[in-house]
Amino acid sequence: MSSEENLVRLRRRLLERLTPEEVEVFSSKAGLSVEYADMLRENVLGLFHVPIGIVEGVVVNGRVLLIPLAIEERGVVEMVIRGADLVAGCGGFTAESTDQIMIGQIQVVGVGDLEEGICRVSSERDNLLLEANTVSATRRAVDLKARRLNTETGPMLIVEIYVDVKDSMGANVVNSMCEMISSAIEGLTGGRVNMAILTNLSSKRMVKVQARIPNGRIDGEAVERIVKASAFAEADPYRAVTHNKGIMNGVSAVLLATGNDTRAVEAGAHAYASLGGAYKPLSIWTRGVDGGLVGTLEMPLSVGTVGGVVNSHPIARINLKLLGVEGAADLGQIAASVGLAANLGALYTLVTEGVKSIQ
Ligand code: MEV
Repeated sequence: MSSEENLVRLRRRLLERLTPEEVEVFSSKAGLSVEYADMLRENVLGLFHVPIGIVEGVVVNGRVLLIPLAIEERGVVEMVIRGADLVAGCGGFTAESTDQIMIGQIQVVGVGDLEEGICRVSSERDNLLLEANTVSATRRAVDLKARRLNTETGPMLIVEIYVDVKDSMGANVVNSMCEMISSAIEGLTGGRVNMAILTNLSSKRMVKVQARIPNGRIDGEAVERIVKASAFAEADPYRAVTHNKGIMNGVSAVLLATGNDTRAVEAGAHAYASLGGAYKPLSIWTRGVDGGLVGTLEMPLSVGTVGGVVNSHPIARINLKLLGVEGAADLGQIAASVGLAANLGALYTLVTEGVKSIQ
């Protein structure tokens, strides 16, 4: 099929899911205006356009999806297609997530007796949670902990609040909850709240994706070479960072297309990759018991399907509709699956034809 025929076919696929007006907005004939963008952000004088490529037939938990990828780099859409195709015929990606818990951090300085301060905050946990929960009727603070942190400027007290942010990314609600309980914490500890903000290392908001490619679907030599490529990343941070960049090619392209905060997820992913003290790959590829290939990706993923840019950017809204997502957990699972597809597509290409073949 020529690339023109392919475009006509893809446009037809878009029309199955979108109204003709939405297709016009999607193809940027009537997308984001400078005037509207100026209402969304500060000092807007222009727009920066990023291509959206579509990948068909990505299978996640049995659903066959149409994935919009917003990315400027040539070759990434092709790598996702290659990875997704290899997995689609064998059951697709299996994804699961934890609850949508985000963590807020409150730094308290100048506390005379730190152990006493920790005890007092801990014994007032339920009341502090009640106060935090006046911020939102739907998102709930579910736990709170206080701990000592030794720093170069001396010891300090850190209070962490755990919030079930449901389908929102959660930054605003977590920050507001932290601010809401700050004066109560000052009262309890005798200290001063120096700052309060969520952490982007959302280690309580994790996604795990697996792909199993049975023996024979990829030739044995390629399987062996992909396993070796994975071992290289496992043992060497210089390789691990590029391996992870290949994963984030897919993850961030889904996040950008849906108006999510790519920097938050990228910062969290790289911090998670080095939590054990050495920088590690987010995914590993091993040989399955049948001699096939098994890939597993685990990463923190804080995304939203409501609020912020997600709802106010016209193309982000359309992309969410195209994906047919059912909420933040679903979007996180799709983004991580696309990340594993991009990773597999990249490794397969690297150990066979070489990456130049798709650039
Ligand atoms: C390029 O954007 C991504 C790759 O470098 C990923 C990898 O090396 O695994 C091809």
